[in-house]
Amino acid sequence: MNTILSYKNRGKWGKSIYRGNCSGYVIKDLLDFYKPSKFIEVFSGSGTGKEVALDLGISNSVHLDLNNGWNALIDDIPTGNDFTFSHPPYWDIISYGTERGAPHDDDLSNHMSYDEFIHKLNRVNQKIYQALLNNGHHAMLIGDVRKKGKYYSPIKDLIYFGEIDVHMIKTQHNTVSNRKKYNGNFIAIAHEHLIVFKKNSIWQFPVKITQTKVFDLRDFEHMTWRDLIQGALEHLGGEADLSAIYEVVQDSKKSQMNRHWKEKVRQTLQIHQNFSSIDRGKWKLHII
Ligand SMILES: C[S@@+](CC[C@H](N)C(=O)[O-])C[C@H]1O[C@@H](n2cnc3c(N)ncnc32)[C@H](O)[C@@H]1O
Repeated sequence: MNTILSYKNRGKWGKSIYRGNCSGYVIKDLLDFYKPSKFIEVFSGSGTGKEVALDLGISNSVHLDLNNGWNALIDDIPTGNDFTFSHPPYWDIISYGTERGAPHDDDLSNHMSYDEFIHKLNRVNQKIYQALLNNGHHAMLIGDVRKKGKYYSPIKDLIYFGEIDVHMIKTQHNTVSNRKKYNGNFIAIAHEHLIVFKKNSIWQFPVKITQTKVFDLRDFEHMTWRDLIQGALEHLGGEADLSAIYEVVQDSKKSQMNRHWKEKVRQTLQIHQNFSSIDRGKWKLHII
């Protein structure tokens, strides 16, 4: 194995008609490498992992999914496992309630906000980590999603429990989205992430939490005058009177820190080539 995975066919394991199924080779290669004493599969779907384990002669394995009555949000992870593989839903892109013909309130593929999906998956991942024996591993296969033109990458938004043993990129083959013809407005997603976490100690463990905050560039001390005025002119439609530019930048950190900020604005407009005077006291932004 190396950090790029590409399996052109999914192998004989599991059901190819089960939407969002994974190639059995992913699980086979992981099992060959980590050689677990007890293997747990969470979100086992069509039974890919179960059939691989059977083929490899691994009898000590458990495969859990709503499909067989096990609920990741409520039910316990079986004990004594040193390797868990999980392949969560792709948010609500594929509805597994519909696939299984039996909706369930706790199905992680139900229609829900992205934050709720991440929050629920964090709960499951914490349970998986807690249940691992010391020195055990959790391998998670997870995809990125584009919805209504917006790109979502759960791998970047989930809490990381434990240390990263390895982060691999898996190229996707034969997915419905690969076959769809898009209008060329975006770059198609053709990869997934396979990240393996390691439990290095019984009690202490690193937790990585990412947060998204919204900032206003005008509040930044290290914003340059050129960039500040470029923003002001863009904000004002490409050209504006000096007084309007003053109004946009007056509350910025840069202006607050400089008693002579108006002079600085005029100097910046004069020295940079992407600004030009088009009339007395009127300035234009040039995209150069
Ligand atoms: C991407 S699929 C897994 C596919 C599987 N690797 C395969 O090859 O067939 C995700 C699975 O998560 C299951 N799932 C969703 N919410 C669940 C929950 N709360 N508890 C257990 N399983 C759940 C779905 O039923 C679905 O089978």
